[in-house]
Amino acid sequence: MHVVPMLSLIAPTVEYEESYRSYIDELGSAERYPFTLDLEFDDFPALVARLSNFSLGIELPDGAVPNTTFWLVEDGEIVGVSSLRHHLTDRLRLLGGHIGFGVRPSAQGRGVAKELLKQTLTQAGHLGMSEILVICLKENTASSRVIEANGGKLESEYSVPEYDGLLQRYAIPINKMAP
Ligand SMILES: CC(C)(COP(=O)(O)OP(=O)(O)OC[C@H]1O[C@@H](n2cnc3c(N)ncnc32)[C@H](O)[C@@H]1OP(=O)(O)O)[C@@H](O)C(=O)NCCC(=O)NCCS
Repeated sequence: MHVVPMLSLIAPTVEYEESYRSYIDELGSAERYPFTLDLEFDDFPALVARLSNFSLGIELPDGAVPNTTFWLVEDGEIVGVSSLRHHLTDRLRLLGGHIGFGVRPSAQGRGVAKELLKQTLTQAGHLGMSEILVICLKENTASSRVIEANGGKLESEYSVPEYDGLLQRYAIPINKMAP
């Protein structure tokens, strides 16, 4: 059983610039999840403003839908990042899903992702969402375990031309979750 210290889900803010930069440094050449970690951040206040705009559906990139980015903070450091899409397109139902999440490499393996997804689901409930679809590669065992630990039920497995492996789509009912 993991012991998770105080973890708070916050909206992006300029105060965490140094922590954000060290998070990206830690990721190195690894693929960045969720997609907002790929955004340009040289001008950090501009990144924070852009994320806020995305949440309001303003100046979205092509193919994107309104989405809210959250940072999970522990002892003044960002240890996890999630992105919550407010609705899906047909394409996002296959690739992307409602929630993308990732954990800082040095914070992995102690239950941080489970807490990150749990708190992001609570936010989805606040937005009035009743069911969340989360998609991951079947080979990503850690991700499946996080999703299942949060009430995810495997809905389908399929492949798409963009990836070699099988994708899994999980459904998580919000209204059946414990408070
Ligand atoms: C997937 C990821 C978010 C998990 O973060 P984490 O904080 O280490 O996860 P947790 O500590 O909450 O552990 C979740 C479960 O995965 C298991 N796990 C963790 N790392 C694992 C690994 N490398 N291989 C297999 N299982 C692993 C844990 O043992 C735990 O399982 P348990 O319920 O049996 O104890 C993290 O590895 C990550 O950021 N990966 C890259 C981004 C990514 O894949 N995001 C998901 C996209 S859908």
